[in-house]
Amino acid sequence: MKPLGLGIIGYGGFGEFTAQAYATMPQVRIAAITDVAAARREEAAARFDATSYADIDQLLADLEVDLVTIATPPWLHVPQALKAIQAGKHVFLEKPLATTLTDADTLVAAAREHGVQIQVDYVLRYVPLYVTLQKLVHSKLLGEVTYIRLENTASNEALHPQHWFWDRSRSGGIFIEHGVHFFDLCNQLVASKPVLVSGNAHTGSDGRQDRVMSSVSYSSGALAHFYHAFDRLAILEKTVLRVVMERGTATAYGWIPDRMEIEGTLASSDYPALEKLLQTKLTIQTIPAPEGITGATAGQLVQATLTRPDRTGDYANAIRAGMSDLVHSIQEPDYTPGVTLQDAYESFRLAFLSQQSIEQGRSQSYEQP
Ligand SMILES: NC(=O)c1ccc[n+]([C@@H]2O[C@H](COP(=O)([O-])OP(=O)(O)OC[C@H]3O[C@@H](n4cnc5c(N)ncnc54)[C@H](O)[C@@H]3O)[C@@H](O)[C@H]2O)c1
Repeated sequence: MKPLGLGIIGYGGFGEFTAQAYATMPQVRIAAITDVAAARREEAAARFDATSYADIDQLLADLEVDLVTIATPPWLHVPQALKAIQAGKHVFLEKPLATTLTDADTLVAAAREHGVQIQVDYVLRYVPLYVTLQKLVHSKLLGEVTYIRLENTASNEALHPQHWFWDRSRSGGIFIEHGVHFFDLCNQLVASKPVLVSGNAHTGSDGRQDRVMSSVSYSSGALAHFYHAFDRLAILEKTVLRVVMERGTATAYGWIPDRMEIEGTLASSDYPALEKLLQTKLTIQTIPAPEGITGATAGQLVQATLTRPDRTGDYANAIRAGMSDLVHSIQEPDYTPGVTLQDAYESFRLAFLSQQSIEQGRSQSYEQP
């Protein structure tokens, strides 16, 4: 099949990383590029043998362009996506979907009205260790999810005080600009709707809101806690996602994880199923009954550690998998992609309400009254 013509809107840091990933895909051909920075768009056009346009309207008028990626800063996503939709182009939209709930509602309605496909680039849905985690949770081999804890302590070294990231009117704030990835992942893990959302934040003396946390209760009974901080050196960056289930725990390390530890207890007849799912041998330990705890029993604890050798490769592959899914949805409109527009809307809503809770100083109900 002829590759679809891809128009790139925004060729900054992430636009460049993603363009390199798309350039290796047989399903798409980079046909056109626009960026307000002339040097950037010219460099990209030469690199990918594409047409350079000074503005989005010219790019959208190009008949070679079937779909666009939007990798501009967050506040531009909705106005640019609306233009693309009206021009009949499908959209691969960088997160976040929007910066306000009203904008998100407008975009979802416009996509449905114009019959074009929009997919949000939630790479974490396609990262191998998180894919395994989703399978583990949904297999229920270790029971239902009871608690999720995300701790993401990141660097602010590349984020100078005037960067759009800190301006909540342009980025939406940390939950919307960045936390959406993890809200989406956890929504998928818990597979039930959030009920109540409660946020808190630290704001520095220069006005930068650099640490945020949100507690979420889900209708399944699961509780979740999300902490993001952009306040430290890059060499200290750490992301740990702990998923506690009724009979075990999985802990993934790294924003694009390169290690995941699993431990739990289950019927020995289920060991083969768990080994098959994890694609590794289990370590099995017999643990004596803890002393002094009335009624405590001995049991077998199973453990496994999974590792990935190439985090950047996993990241680029996840971007390609998302794009591939979008192309599939364009070619077969009945196909359900890994990330639906409804999924993107739900995680955006959770991010938005977490931020709103900080601003209003009180918990927010997830459902509209
Ligand atoms: N999915 C992911 O894993 C992931 C990772 C990083 C960033 N992102 C998202 O990608 C987007 C871009 O982030 P970034 O770090 O590359 O930002 P950036 O500031 O480095 O790049 C933005 C680019 O957009 C260009 N631009 C600004 N206004 C424009 C306009 N009106 N028309 C065309 N181009 C315009 C800028 O010149 C710049 O080159 C953000 O929404 C961010 O959240 C996603």
